[in-house]
Amino acid sequence: MLQIFPDSESIAEFVSRRLVEKIRAKPDAVLGLATGGTMEPIYAGFVDIAHEMRVDVTRVTSFNLDEYVGVGPDHPKSYAAYMHEHLFTHLSFDRERLHLPDGLASNLETHSREYSDKVLKSGGIDLQLLGVGSNGHIGFNEPGTSFDSRCHVVRLSERTRKDNSRFFEGNAIVPESAITMGIYEIMQAREILLVATGESKAEIVAEWYRREVTEAVPFTVLKRHTRARVLLDAAAASRLPSAVRGAFSAVAISGLPISASA
Ligand code: GLP
Repeated sequence: MLQIFPDSESIAEFVSRRLVEKIRAKPDAVLGLATGGTMEPIYAGFVDIAHEMRVDVTRVTSFNLDEYVGVGPDHPKSYAAYMHEHLFTHLSFDRERLHLPDGLASNLETHSREYSDKVLKSGGIDLQLLGVGSNGHIGFNEPGTSFDSRCHVVRLSERTRKDNSRFFEGNAIVPESAITMGIYEIMQAREILLVATGESKAEIVAEWYRREVTEAVPFTVLKRHTRARVLLDAAAASRLPSAVRGAFSAVAISGLPISASA
């Protein structure tokens, strides 16, 4: 299902309200969380609305999608630091329930297996947030990753490292590898909201729309999920056929329409 919004602020409001609805309906909800520039206004919006509506997040569990290898939570560019800065420190989360892959784990393969088990044993993710890379990656599942993949270590493509270099100032080097939840765990989530904003995502969004489900464009897998929504702002939607853009309000192009119930 595709929904096109005028701007990133209206997407942030929509996603924030969906998060609140979910937590209100299920106070011990399990959230799958993403990082990246796209998510910043979403977490800011959610923090505001959660304060305003006095949402109790103390029983919420979260699993982040990914983390750079060789980067610990004290590294300013780690995804752990990102999550603390944009979300975790602003609300009364129980720190024990917040999970991220450990980029410093001594045995990354064992750690990946354990992280995958933890996600699945938590009862599964109720609501998964996703951004998308300009090459169609989700989490750090680069083009060509098997849809059966579980949490694993990945060598980042040059394109992804270049895209993400904007977050690493000066001469800081973007790590060459990362741990990411696999497509399998992502697709097990009961509901998925993928957000793409800005002109830089317009080309891959158009490709997603044009193509059948293919491992060459990882986020096409969402067309197989019955409760996945792709939320675009006008810029990210700008290269879609005009008829699709015209019918922007909740055009169902894949999966089934989502019921309003939490
Ligand atoms: C990184 C993350 C992805 C994210 C993507 C897009 O590569 N691993 O989870 O979706 O960046 O980031 P941005 O929102 O900054 O464009």
